Amino acid sequence: MFRANDAASRLMLRPKKRDIRMPDVLSFLQAWAADPLRVAAIAPSGEALAELITRDITPASRPVLELGPGTGVFTRALLGRGLKAEDLTLVEYGAKFTELLQTRFPTARILRMDAARIDQRHLVNGTRFGAVVSGLPLLSMPPKKIFAIFAGAFSTLRQGGAFYQFTYGLTCPVPRRILDRLGLKATCVGRAYLNIPPAAVYRITRRRPSKFVTT
Ligand SMILES: C[S@@+](CC[C@H](N)C(=O)[O-])C[C@H]1O[C@@H](n2cnc3c(N)ncnc32)[C@H](O)[C@@H]1O
Repeated sequence: MFRANDAASRLMLRPKKRDIRMPDVLSFLQAWAADPLRVAAIAPSGEALAELITRDITPASRPVLELGPGTGVFTRALLGRGLKAEDLTLVEYGAKFTELLQTRFPTARILRMDAARIDQRHLVNGTRFGAVVSGLPLLSMPPKKIFAIFAGAFSTLRQGGAFYQFTYGLTCPVPRRILDRLGLKATCVGRAYLNIPPAAVYRITRRRPSKFVTT
């Protein structure tokens, strides 16, 4: 849902003083060197981007699914929005990031797997997610994989739920034909210009009527 301060969110969002965590930067660099296409960034996102991508999320959104959490920058921001770690399902492919997340968020549900394999088997006690927050590097993924990620994620999202995705690109990182095929629409909710590199956040929701509503 749009907020009155949508316009304000389009203004420059400045990183905060605690933005850079050196051990996390090192973990990222190592992960990126080992698998540049999977990690697709040499440093974790800054707090301004984390605030922007979680801006619409409240405790009413729970449970929440996070895809590609890395070192947990967005995860921490979700806790700052009033969610508990128990409300979160974190899906991360990297083994080292998964271990780190288990140490940092021991009561979250952490799945080490490919986000393209998410489906209704991953619901929490049969409950659909209220939101998906994604740090996945869609720009380095083939369209078939992007399709699988969105088809799977929307099969787990309840009606009115939204998928939040950031990108370093200038346009929505989900190809138009995939949005059309899945009956989805994308809206840019803001930009974090001083993130390194600058990033935009898109909210992706169902058009009406949806062929993915089954409840
Ligand atoms: C650009 S990093 C973003 C990390 C974190 N969200 C941030 O903003 O700092 C991309 C993350 O997605 C993970 N990832 C990439 N492909 C994935 C996949 N298919 N399934 C699950 N995680 C994946 C990477 O391991 C990495 O943690």
